[in-house]
Amino acid sequence: MDTLSILFSDEMKTVEALLSKNISSGIALIPDLSHYLLDAGGKRIRPLLTLACAGLMGYEGELHYPLAAAVECIHTATLLHDDVVDQAEERRGKASARLVWGNSANVLVGDFLFSRAFQLMVETKTLKVLEILARASSRIAEGEVLQLLSLKNLTMTEEHYFNIIERKTAELFAAACEVTGYLAQKPQDTCDHLRRLGLHLGLAFQLQDDLLDYTAAGGSLGKTIGKDFLEGKVTWPWLTLYQRVSPSEKTWMQGLMDNEDQRPSALPQMIQLMHSHTVVSDMESLVIHHTQRAEEALHALAGPKAIHDAFGDILQSLAHRQH
Ligand code: IPE
Ligand code: IPE
Ligand code: MG
Ligand code: MG
Repeated sequence: MDTLSILFSDEMKTVEALLSKNISSGIALIPDLSHYLLDAGGKRIRPLLTLACAGLMGYEGELHYPLAAAVECIHTATLLHDDVVDQAEERRGKASARLVWGNSANVLVGDFLFSRAFQLMVETKTLKVLEILARASSRIAEGEVLQLLSLKNLTMTEEHYFNIIERKTAELFAAACEVTGYLAQKPQDTCDHLRRLGLHLGLAFQLQDDLLDYTAAGGSLGKTIGKDFLEGKVTWPWLTLYQRVSPSEKTWMQGLMDNEDQRPSALPQMIQLMHSHTVVSDMESLVIHHTQRAEEALHALAGPKAIHDAFGDILQSLAHRQH
C-alpha cells in the first residue's frame, strides 16, 4: 500500500462504513448490486484525495467523510452507467454487474447511487461544495455523451479528446480536491491550487488508463486488454498513431474501424506500430507532463510535511501505475 493510503487508512475506514450505510435500502437488489461492485475493490483514489486534501488544509471537522463518500458514490454510479454504454464484460476483475443483473438494473442502481451522493453532500450544508459536485456530475455526463458522439471519429483533434477526458474523468478528481478548500474556508487561491492538483492528476490518470488499455500486461488491469480498440473507441494512442502512419496503413486502420471482426487479430500489430512510431513513449511523456503540473499545484499548497511527501509519492506512482 502507498504511504498516503496508510496515513489515511483509519479515516478511509470511516468512509467505507458510510458507503456501506448509504447503499442500504429495503429493495434488496440495490445493496446486492452495489456491494458486488464496492466489495470487488477499486482503488478508492478519489475519496483518498478528499481525505488527503482535507488533511493538507488542516481541516479539523467531520464533514470531509460524507464528502469523500459522496465522491466515491458519484464515481461508482458513473462506472455502472459507463459499463452499460461500453457493454463491458469485466469490472474490477469480475464479471460486470450488468452481466449478473442486466443493463436496466445497472442504470437504475447507478441513479440510486447518484441520488445518495447528493444526500451525502447536502450534509455539509455548504453551498459552494454542492455547486462544485453538482457541476462535476453534469460535466461527467457531458464527457460521456461527447465520447459517445465521437466514436470512430478518426480525425478528432487533440483538443477534442482532452475535452472528453477532462469532463469524464478529471472534473471529479478536481472536485474531490477543491471541495476541501471551501470546507476549510480557505482563500480562493488555495481552492484554485487544489482544483489544479486534482485536474492534472485526473488528466494524467485517464491518459495512463488509455495507454494501459493497449499496453497493460495481461489481466493486471482487471478489464479486457485492447477493449477501447476492440469496441472502436478512439483515444489518444489511436489518434496519434493514425496521424503518424503511412497512407496505406491509414487505409488499413480505417478498414479496422469498419470491420469489428478483424480487430482482434489486428491488435498485436497495432500495439507494435504504437511502439515503433513512439506513440507509447510520447504518451508516457504526456502523462509525466500532467503529473508535474499536479506537483506544481501541490507545492503551492501549505500543509503537514508527511502528507505533502506522501502526496508527492502517490503522484509518481499513479503516473507509473500498471493497473
Ligand atoms: C476507472 O476509474 C474509470 C477511469 C476514470 C479510467 P478507476 O481506475 O479509479 O476505477 P476503480 O475505482 O479503481 O475501479
Ligand atoms: C470510465 O471511462 C467512466 C468515466 C470516467 C465516467 P472509460 O470507459 O474510459 O473507462 P473504463 O475503461 O470503462 O474503466
Ligand atoms: Mg466509457
Ligand atoms: Mg468503460
